[in-house]
Amino acid sequence: MTIKRTWWKEAVGYQIYPSSFMDTDGDGIGDLNGIRSKLDYLKELGIGFIWITPIYESPNVDNGYDISDYQKILSTYGTMEEFDLLLKEAHKVGIKIIMDLVINHTSNQHSWFLESRSSVKDDYRDYYIWADGTIDGPPNDWVSIFGGSAWEYDEMTKQYYLHVFAKEQPDLNWENPRVKRDLFSMINWWLDKGIDGFRVDAISHIKKAPLETSSENDPFASFKNVPGIEVHLEELRDVFKNRDILTVGEANGVSAEQAHQWVGETEGYFNMLFEFDHISLWNKEEQETLDVVHFKQAITRWQEALADGKGWNALYMENHDIPRSVSSFGSEETVFWKASAKALALTFLLLQGTPFIYQGQEIGMTNMPFASIEDIDAVDTKNFYYEMIHAGVEPVKAMEVIRRTARDNSRTPMQWTAEEYAGFSKRKPWMVINPNKQEVNVLDELADPDSILNFYKKVIRLRTENQALIYGTYKLYLPEHPQLFVYGRSLGEERFIVIINLSKDFASADLPKNVRIEEWQLELCNLNEHTIHQHTIFAPYEARIYKHKIAKQ
Ligand code: GLC
Repeated sequence: MTIKRTWWKEAVGYQIYPSSFMDTDGDGIGDLNGIRSKLDYLKELGIGFIWITPIYESPNVDNGYDISDYQKILSTYGTMEEFDLLLKEAHKVGIKIIMDLVINHTSNQHSWFLESRSSVKDDYRDYYIWADGTIDGPPNDWVSIFGGSAWEYDEMTKQYYLHVFAKEQPDLNWENPRVKRDLFSMINWWLDKGIDGFRVDAISHIKKAPLETSSENDPFASFKNVPGIEVHLEELRDVFKNRDILTVGEANGVSAEQAHQWVGETEGYFNMLFEFDHISLWNKEEQETLDVVHFKQAITRWQEALADGKGWNALYMENHDIPRSVSSFGSEETVFWKASAKALALTFLLLQGTPFIYQGQEIGMTNMPFASIEDIDAVDTKNFYYEMIHAGVEPVKAMEVIRRTARDNSRTPMQWTAEEYAGFSKRKPWMVINPNKQEVNVLDELADPDSILNFYKKVIRLRTENQALIYGTYKLYLPEHPQLFVYGRSLGEERFIVIINLSKDFASADLPKNVRIEEWQLELCNLNEHTIHQHTIFAPYEARIYKHKIAKQ
């Protein structure tokens, strides 16, 4: 099948976490004018679109993912006029904007919920999911992704409401057609404004199993990709239809085998999905490390499931919900930091799909050495910390776990310079700044031809200039190799091969016989250039990309 060409397949995306990106009004919190002031930086990097995490009115219990008014901008970020200006100027420099669409739940301060909880007879009662308790308390044993029961008792009407996330984030009742009508009209309002698409938050949770279902086997199974969800998703797809937009769904619980149904070229609900096979979400206890074989299997499963025009992938190694990739999958050690951050860039930027870079990833930002729980903002992390303390875990030990796993690791302010507030703000920011801003910052990396930032630029340019790296097929080599990730991309005669040592140790390999290395020309590497042979030893985190010499230009 030939693959249809579109802008969102060719562009590279960049995720902005606005409160930590750039502050221009000196309140220590990033803002819309801050994003606007960095459009040239993003353009230079080679970015085609930005995804901005929620900037709507919100009490910020879950930093914007608890929306109290979908059609207002939170004042700390700016005004709707400033948003319009950002959109206009971004379009002028050729950068599109996609917004976060949080429609599984609202804030408990949203007017719909305030109405809903006021009386069982209220017109908005069925906008949310209410149920009577049992003698044991909550209506059933479902647990929230953010810890504790998924039900909250409301004194006012003596019933419980459902919240898959924090108790301040009540779940909307998608079985109520009026809920969908109101959400869809809000979506159209934003699209009519001229935005270029949506990252659709937590969308695999909108359908709930019957309340009698027990959550014994998988604590989240009763609200994760539950059969019947397709009815709602088809209606949502019809809202997106006929618009030239990018839609990417956050799809916890959707397998590679089911993916074509979600993102199939003609009938899919979205253009692409953020899957959780290669990176796990909500992993609170353990630091994620890289099992190279498992990682390759997960990536390959998705690459193959959506090959030949069956669908399209969203590619990422970082976002605002997981610790920094260089800290989890690469190495913070001075000798390895730069090489490993570059190796991780080649690991995901050139696969089949649309890459999303998370702010700061392009300069190799690392996890934060959080001193105490007071430095933490994220609601789930705080809950988890106190759960540990109540269970008798020593505070020092609990903090060690938090330091490795907290999602705030990726939410520290962007490091623009080595100045006191990292060039992010003129005042002490809302969130602690990583002390390594001296060594890791945009200004210095712009000036250093060998920096991680300049490596990202080169890789992005390579992708943009070579159709095979966008539309080509994917092939995995050496699947069982425990250190190397070797993959090929090809389109017609244009062929590339990427070789990455994803470990701290030297890796030796016999390259596959059908890849005769003398026929290939080095395009880019992250360590010293040297000739490699059919049997070669790769240095720790060495990463290279080759193009076949006989390929037509
Ligand atoms: C998504 C967001 C996350 C948020 C959650 C609840 O997973 O990425 O940040 O906390 O949804 O809205």
